[in-house]
Amino acid sequence: MANQAPYWDELYRARRVTTSATTPSDLALTAAATLDRPGRVMELGCGRGHDARYFAECGHSVVATDISPVALREAKSLGGDAVTYVAADMTSSLPAGDECFDVVYSRLSLHYFTDDVTRRVLSEIHRVLKPGAVFAALVKSTKDPLYARGIRVERDMYVLDGHVRHFIDPPYLREVTAPLFDVEELSQYDGDAFGFPSSFTRLIARKRRPSGGPGSERSVRAPGRTWRGSSA
Ligand SMILES: C[S@@+](CC[C@H](N)C(=O)[O-])C[C@H]1O[C@@H](n2cnc3c(N)ncnc32)[C@H](O)[C@@H]1O
Repeated sequence: MANQAPYWDELYRARRVTTSATTPSDLALTAAATLDRPGRVMELGCGRGHDARYFAECGHSVVATDISPVALREAKSLGGDAVTYVAADMTSSLPAGDECFDVVYSRLSLHYFTDDVTRRVLSEIHRVLKPGAVFAALVKSTKDPLYARGIRVERDMYVLDGHVRHFIDPPYLREVTAPLFDVEELSQYDGDAFGFPSSFTRLIARKRRPSGGPGSERSVRAPGRTWRGSSA
């Protein structure tokens, strides 16, 4: 698929991605609550960065990536000096070494890719996560009102008015994550995206620890706690 950066830049310039949220999303609250000490978070497709700023406010070290330089410029202008913003296309390799993040987070940014590219992105997410670390994602589901509208690209993937969407249902997400992650939550629900009725698939998963290796047992955690401001 052609480089999508100009397309997204134009949407942001035309204000057609209308996230102006000042409060963190539910997914960000859940992802932050999985960390019981300050950690390293990578966000993929951060847009205007409201969730990235929340992770930073919680005391985490945040790398927020997006394919759109325009979105990143707006994110920077909205504050969050503690966030490192990086222009990156997640369909290429992620801009990080192996096993350095405690959370990889993606809200409404993973549902643009063909099946083979989706699997490649998931394997990159797996590579940059520490063993046992969290992958949190929200994508459009096959129950979304826009499902099957426009020109079909492949199974569950359509282009409508130039906008590509791969609608992802829980069984598909379970299948493509199964080789790499242990799923902790996988659900489908209806809601609102940027002011439009939508339907979502939500995933909370952990990078599978190497079996038999040190620390391969699943740790039992106290209920999640989040940090505000920096902590020692
Ligand atoms: C619907 S917006 C969601 C933005 C933000 N996560 C939110 O929840 O408001 C999708 C975002 O994914 C970004 N994106 C799309 N394709 C991408 C890619 N291949 N690599 C990185 N970011 C991408 C877009 O630029 C856009 O900011």
